[in-house]
Amino acid sequence: MLKIQNEIKLNSHDMYTHFSNIASKYQSVRTLDTKPILYIKDKLKEKAKISMADIGCGDGRYSLEFLRCFDNSFYIHCIDNNENMLKSLEYHLVEQNITNFCVRQSDANRLPLENDSIDCIVTFNAIHHFDVPKFLSESLRALKDEGYFFIYTRLRNQNSRSIWGEHFPLFTENEDRLYELDELEQHIKNADMSIHSTRVFGYSRTSSLDRLVHQSQNSHYSTFALYDKETFDESLEIFQQNIKKNFDDLEKIKWYDENILIEIRK
Ligand SMILES: C[S@@+](CC[C@H](N)C(=O)[O-])C[C@H]1O[C@@H](n2cnc3c(N)ncnc32)[C@H](O)[C@@H]1O
Repeated sequence: MLKIQNEIKLNSHDMYTHFSNIASKYQSVRTLDTKPILYIKDKLKEKAKISMADIGCGDGRYSLEFLRCFDNSFYIHCIDNNENMLKSLEYHLVEQNITNFCVRQSDANRLPLENDSIDCIVTFNAIHHFDVPKFLSESLRALKDEGYFFIYTRLRNQNSRSIWGEHFPLFTENEDRLYELDELEQHIKNADMSIHSTRVFGYSRTSSLDRLVHQSQNSHYSTFALYDKETFDESLEIFQQNIKKNFDDLEKIKWYDENILIEIRK
């Protein structure tokens, strides 16, 4: 009998260890969404010189995409509380002779940024790991008056319709850290900010069953780190049966993912 993993919920130290362990292979197990990057780039096109902060930047997949979008007048502060993630980021960026960035190891609830200093704050796939009220208040402090602020995440309901939510036992039940839009809206309102726009991005995904199994075994979503070993193994077995039952071509399993980009104004 599969059990929801309430009794073994990971504390922040365990989650830190999870991200430390996965840092060196993070890019190989995650899928990069370029649509929100192009959308944000377009929003910033009138700005001559941009200072950006990427909070919970991980190994810098998204920071790197922004660096590729702009010229050398662009500067990005890459902030994460995980040392290994930042080492990995620095390695990738230095390897490509990129210099217009800095890495800062810090918690999202105490941003190492001057007051009114940043043109654009972004956070990708990380808000559910933060203390949201503190993170919002720190972002408000660091943003310039006309600053831009974007949160990219998957909502709980979007997560439940993913390939994992639909077919991997207990994935939706165990992942109770994600938010619904109204919950984020309330946090944003409480922080004296307002939502300027929301945009849902959809992605037609295709993958082989082997890759999906590999991703889950490597906890590409930290949700998998919330399972104990026995429950994970049993769930993975059932997941594979579910996929075989529902898809004809195990080399080309197709599904549709959705994420949301929230644009906030001061
Ligand atoms: C799911 S990863 C996303 C990484 C990156 N934004 C991406 O999409 O590739 C979440 C990141 O948030 C970081 N993180 C978790 N809690 C944090 C906190 N309280 N303050 C700063 N970073 C945190 C983790 O170390 C990890 O790198």
